[in-house]
Amino acid sequence: MPIVRKFNAALSALAMTLAAQTARAEDSAALFNANVKPLISGHCTDCHGEDVQKAGLRLDTLPADLHDDAVMANWVKVLDKLAAGEMPPKKRQRPPQNEINAATQWLSRELRAASLDRQQKRGRVVLRRLNITEYENTLRDLLGTQVQVKDLLPEDNSAAGFDNVSAVLDLSATHLLRFQDAAERAVLSAVPTHPPVQFSNARSGREMTENGPNFRQTLSRSCKLQGDALVIYSKLPRYGLCSSGPVPIDGRYHVQLSACAVGEGLRSVPAAFMTVQNGPEQPVTFDCRDIPVGKPSVIEVDVDLKRGQQFVLNYLSNWDIRIFKKPIDEYTGPGLMVEWIKVQGPIDPFPSPSYRVLFGDVPLKARSVLAAEARGARLPVISDKRTADQWASDPLVPDSANPRQDADRLIRAFLPRVPPAGQPAGAAAFR
Ligand code: HEC
Repeated sequence: MPIVRKFNAALSALAMTLAAQTARAEDSAALFNANVKPLISGHCTDCHGEDVQKAGLRLDTLPADLHDDAVMANWVKVLDKLAAGEMPPKKRQRPPQNEINAATQWLSRELRAASLDRQQKRGRVVLRRLNITEYENTLRDLLGTQVQVKDLLPEDNSAAGFDNVSAVLDLSATHLLRFQDAAERAVLSAVPTHPPVQFSNARSGREMTENGPNFRQTLSRSCKLQGDALVIYSKLPRYGLCSSGPVPIDGRYHVQLSACAVGEGLRSVPAAFMTVQNGPEQPVTFDCRDIPVGKPSVIEVDVDLKRGQQFVLNYLSNWDIRIFKKPIDEYTGPGLMVEWIKVQGPIDPFPSPSYRVLFGDVPLKARSVLAAEARGARLPVISDKRTADQWASDPLVPDSANPRQDADRLIRAFLPRVPPAGQPAGAAAFR
């Protein structure tokens, strides 16, 4: 995939920054008297002179020696005000343009030279590479994927507890290679392995209780069946959850559920929308809703699910119905009735915005198709019933007819997203 390799080079260069060298300007106090003095004495000293010092600034005695920090700081302000046309104030007569030009040119040149000189004597404020956390975050901001690269990169040193200090963020040959590996993984994270494999699953309350092997324990204790609907009176435990079927691939899914609150004199009950991964983990709540009483109504929500994850609905209550010693059918307190839960998706656009950002309109083809094309052989037929597992062994790859030109065009379009050194990429970068 030559086009992917081209991107690696561009992205790994992100970690490094080059500093430019500037030429040394010549020093001359005589030029100060010729270029700056006339403007100051003619247009500034009324307010920044011996008698009056507006803003505490005196200019007639401000020396031309830019190597003094305080003096330099004042000349920087003067240059800024002159360049912005803010001094002298608007109500005063404008100095002739050639005087302004002469002064600003001298000041810019000398200030730059003084700053360079200072840098050489005291050392520059060093530009540094991103540390690995910053690098990972920047990749995520730029590409819009949740790629993880920390495990590929050598651990950063730290100085006095800080891991973003230039002096200890070294950049060895190993770093360069590892940053390239990381960039490759990041680029690949934007390439889908397969077209969206559509999934849809609906479960009635009754079917949910039949799916969990341990549901029998909870049934008739914290919940009950009423027809095909499940009525929940206490928060359901991990081993008997009111949930959709697990999804076969990562993606964003559309969930619909039919539910209502039950119980005498009630307006609504709180319910938690959660996700759970197969295995011993606890469900994680991502939203809470009030479910109204009356007839069951359909509630819809979109949720990101990883392969094998399920959508879970639970009753948000700390009350334990076991305190009610009588049979559950006699209970008339608040409860959450769930008729069914349906999940379908993934609903993400294909290919993803992340892919578009990197590869534009470069088409995706199965690797086997690409190989056959290259050999001039007969093209394999890809069944539209292919499962995610089958796709994993013959994934999609970007297919560019002109990798060089495409890479050039796409990288040019991509680079403006990279923030200037020192600025975070931010969400704005991913548009
Ligand atoms: C009519 C009075 C007046 C004249 C003439 C005048 N200034 Fe000012 N200057 C002010 C006042 C008032 C302030 C403070 C308010 C402001 O910053 O706008 C100020 C602020 C400044 C500051 C900002 C100081 C600081 O610490 O923020 C600079 C620099 C400056 N003037 C430069 C000049 C220069 C250079 C000239 C001549 C080309 C000039 N001024 C002419 C009235 C004047």
